[in-house]
Amino acid sequence: MITFEKIRWKNFLSTGNSFTEIEFNRSPSTLVVGENGSGKSTMLDAVCFALFNKPFRKISKTQLINSINNKKLVVEIEFRVGLKEFKVVRGVKPNIFEVYCDGQMLDQDAAVRDTQKYLEESILKMNFKSFTQIVILGSASFTPFMQLPTASRREIIEDILDIEIFTTMNQVLRDKIAVLRDEIRDVETEVEVAKSKATVQRKYIEQLEKDKKIKVDKIKEKINELIEATTELETKLAETTSEKESHDDPKERKRKLDGLKDKLDSNLRKARKELDFYHNTEECPTCKQGLTHDFKEEKQKEKTTRIEELESGLSDMDSEYELVQKSIEVYDKIVTDIQDIQSDIISQERYKNRLTLELNEAETNVADIDEEKTKLKELAIELTETNKKKTEKGEEQHYNTAAGSLLKDTGIKTRVIRQYLPVINQLVNKYLAAMDFFVHFDLDEKFNETIKSRHRDKFSYSSFSEGEKQRIDLALLFTWRTIAKMKNSASTNLLLLDEVFDSSLDNNGVDYVMNLLHTIGEETNVFVISHKGDQLFDKFRNQIKFEKIRNYSVMS
Ligand SMILES: Nc1ncnc2c1ncn2[C@@H]1O[C@H](COP(=O)(O)OP(=O)(O)O)[C@@H](O)[C@H]1O
Ligand SMILES: [Mg+2]
Repeated sequence: MITFEKIRWKNFLSTGNSFTEIEFNRSPSTLVVGENGSGKSTMLDAVCFALFNKPFRKISKTQLINSINNKKLVVEIEFRVGLKEFKVVRGVKPNIFEVYCDGQMLDQDAAVRDTQKYLEESILKMNFKSFTQIVILGSASFTPFMQLPTASRREIIEDILDIEIFTTMNQVLRDKIAVLRDEIRDVETEVEVAKSKATVQRKYIEQLEKDKKIKVDKIKEKINELIEATTELETKLAETTSEKESHDDPKERKRKLDGLKDKLDSNLRKARKELDFYHNTEECPTCKQGLTHDFKEEKQKEKTTRIEELESGLSDMDSEYELVQKSIEVYDKIVTDIQDIQSDIISQERYKNRLTLELNEAETNVADIDEEKTKLKELAIELTETNKKKTEKGEEQHYNTAAGSLLKDTGIKTRVIRQYLPVINQLVNKYLAAMDFFVHFDLDEKFNETIKSRHRDKFSYSSFSEGEKQRIDLALLFTWRTIAKMKNSASTNLLLLDEVFDSSLDNNGVDYVMNLLHTIGEETNVFVISHKGDQLFDKFRNQIKFEKIRNYSVMS
């Protein structure tokens, strides 16, 4: 409950450079009188401007400044919320906006808009729209509830029922849902990327393993080929070796042949010498005895035969030599072949050893594959985590959507409104009856009204007379105030009625409204602005009067 205590203003509209001050809670009922243009309605603008930075009437901020003196405009309002005393000071030229709580000014660093928001949402718990439906029933530029579009009707009722918070929550939630939707889309892309990364990696590892197998198989095949080739060589070696062993060494034969030839040669030389001797010699060189012709002839014959034998022996040896030479060539070739085979075996053995080492290394070296497998494991972890994130976000969105359906207009709010609509309708009808206006008023969930007369004819608001309309407006105003009190939301002591009694209401109407005002309790401070002062003054406990003195409005 807000208890308004005091308002002061100067250089505001027709008010001059000294403060006009009204104490709101001095009397439960105050009649505000004065001639046209004396400055009565100015108090509505002052109150609204002080609280909402916006006058009740549609007047621009610069037009609020007194046009005669053009001096500093100041409006100050004081009120209590619970045990806390508040004061709002607002000025134009220079612009002033100060909010005090228990004499302490609120944070000046906060942006002006933030402070205004804080004032409306956290201190007053009312916005301009609701305030002007609950506190003020004006004549000029006032739009009665019944002439507001349904969206504005909803806004006011939500404010009074204190369920606007669900609208704010829904807006916040909607933003959150949108952000989360984007995040989910991102995380889904992340999952896809992680999946394809893992697939590529898996294929890469398969390829590496395949390559390795091919390499190992190739080496093994080569080794097997070598083993086979070596076996073949060894067989050949054995064969060649046994072939070699089957031959006598022809060099030995040649040596023997050489010895024999030397012997034959020397025998031939000796035989030729002896033939020469027996041919040329007449006496024995040792005993000096003469040699006979026959003897010599016989000896010559003998030596010639001998020479012939030796020569034929030597010529026989030539073919023998040829054979030996051939054998030597064959034998040498076998030896060379054996050496070649042996060296081939050795080099094959070496090659095989090298390949074995290579095979061993190819089989045991799995470092690169292991490294890629580790990478794959990391990718799998990444995928699991991203999937987890996706699930979490999905769940969160699920809850958000569920919460969203509760926060929608058709959710919790409709339930609360549904609960209060019968109360609202009952109260409106009660107040209408109290003002001797017997119609059946019904506001539905969509905030459309039906008004039926006693004879059950349907009426629309606009088809009623001004006086009847005013009764409906008043009934709604009292209803909002009662509901606000029940909800302890937009409840206040202040009630300002501007010219309600003057034109449209008949005398009966005035009496009924006065009766109603008396029933709404002592904690309400009602101000009734009227220029019918003479007819009304005995019905009020207090009276203030505005008049214009030397072009300035003053209060007396
Ligand atoms: N900026 C202004 N400077 C001086 N006078 C103004 C200014 N704006 C309006 N007025 C005058 O203030 C008076 C309006 O006072 P108002 O409170 O509406 O009178 P009422 O007593 O009829 O409700 C009018 O006489 C109007 O000409
Ligand atoms: Mg007026």
